[in-house]
Amino acid sequence: MAKAKTYYSCRECGYQSSSWLGRCPECGKFGTFEEEAVHVESGKRKVESTGQAVPKLLQDITYSHTPRIGTHCAELDRVLGGGIVPGSLLLLGGEPGIGKSTLLLQTALAIRDRRLLYVSGEESEQQIKMRADRIGNAESELYLLAETDVQRILEHVDTLKPDLLIVDSIQTVTSSDIESPAGSVGQIRQSTAHFQHLAKTTGIPVLLIGHITKDGTLAGPKVMEHIVDAVLQFEGERQHGFRILRALKNRFGSTAEIGIFEMLADGLREVENPSQVLLSQRDETLSGTAVCATLEGVRPIFIEVQSLVSSAVYGTPQRNASGFDLRRLNLLLAVLEKRCGFKLGAKDVFLNIAGGLRVIDPAIDLAVAAAVLSSNVDIPIPSDVCLAAEIGLSGEVRPVSRVEQRIAEADRLGFKRIIISKYNARSLDLRRHRIEVVPVSLVEEAVRTLFA
Ligand code: TYD
Ligand code: MG
Repeated sequence: MAKAKTYYSCRECGYQSSSWLGRCPECGKFGTFEEEAVHVESGKRKVESTGQAVPKLLQDITYSHTPRIGTHCAELDRVLGGGIVPGSLLLLGGEPGIGKSTLLLQTALAIRDRRLLYVSGEESEQQIKMRADRIGNAESELYLLAETDVQRILEHVDTLKPDLLIVDSIQTVTSSDIESPAGSVGQIRQSTAHFQHLAKTTGIPVLLIGHITKDGTLAGPKVMEHIVDAVLQFEGERQHGFRILRALKNRFGSTAEIGIFEMLADGLREVENPSQVLLSQRDETLSGTAVCATLEGVRPIFIEVQSLVSSAVYGTPQRNASGFDLRRLNLLLAVLEKRCGFKLGAKDVFLNIAGGLRVIDPAIDLAVAAAVLSSNVDIPIPSDVCLAAEIGLSGEVRPVSRVEQRIAEADRLGFKRIIISKYNARSLDLRRHRIEVVPVSLVEEAVRTLFA
């Protein structure tokens, strides 16, 4: 008879304690502890270890080059570092409704000459079939299974012997060696351990889908992140079509690569050239817009910053930003007011990043300031000008990373002028570029160049 043991663990970080605690000593969050009853059989957990290991000399260790499984999706391959590594355990996280199931189902349909198993605890087989029909072109031998019990899933894997296993989602699967409900830290940890064991012993790569909680972390984040080989995050504004796939962790590739997709009626479309898509809907004669040469990881993306400045109707002026940090906007407005003498204190300021993208690259600062001032004075910025620089607290224009790459991309996209920091320009050979590179050291200089 199995002996049941109860312990408590933190939903946020997985910290374990034998008694209930109001505040987690590990992550400091309040009220995150939940009870877990575990069946402990003769003092041992059910997930077996992979055998007796002995220390080996590094030179003596050999490995065979098993080719990665190509996903036939260039954007996904890029983020993975060139396909799925056999025996790896991957986690795809994202908010509900962002398109995780669509992405993996689409990938499963596109992988040729492989036997795949798609396990869903969220949707029925008919629902998945309907979605698959909408996406179309099935190239692979794809099996569907609506099941949530880990042990039964593993039995099916054993008989079917697929080349790739997809589990949608890890929060719905349960392992019978733990008594707590689906989605609890203990269940997630235990189920993940089972899938890890499967991947490592059989070489079948396992792709897990995980939902993210509202504050942007994976439910039970830390307990999974260190177990899996790669954590991919799918993000974007649900109202907009664009989605970005990032690697937060990748044991087999770089985390600087991103993949860009667009959600259409028949599934996700890869976006090879995001700048061209994002900049194609511009109106050249309107004031209040500026183009920034941003970098997402190592990939240049040119995006349009839109701003609207108007006299405040109510006492307290409104400030609103979407796709950009509101506190950063307030800071930039304060710099423009105090250091550059623009009277924005009594103005409503609205800021929007076109396309629903969220930008954290500091190089967007100068474009934000330019868009705000352009709207304020109602003079449009020429459409062949782009900007890439950070703004400091004293109104100085600061350098940004990889400026050469930004300039080259601006040139390729047909821009005639790019405004950068003087400090970036120092190390550049300005004559090498066809595009005119305008170095500035203060925001005022940039303003003079733009609105003279
Ligand atoms: P889904 O993949 O179910 O999201 P997740 O698994 O992350 O919860 O898809 C989310 C949304 O995508 C869904 O609300 C409808 C939309 N969608 C499309 O616009 N086109 C499509 O072809 C599909 C399959 C979904
Ligand atoms: Mg889903």
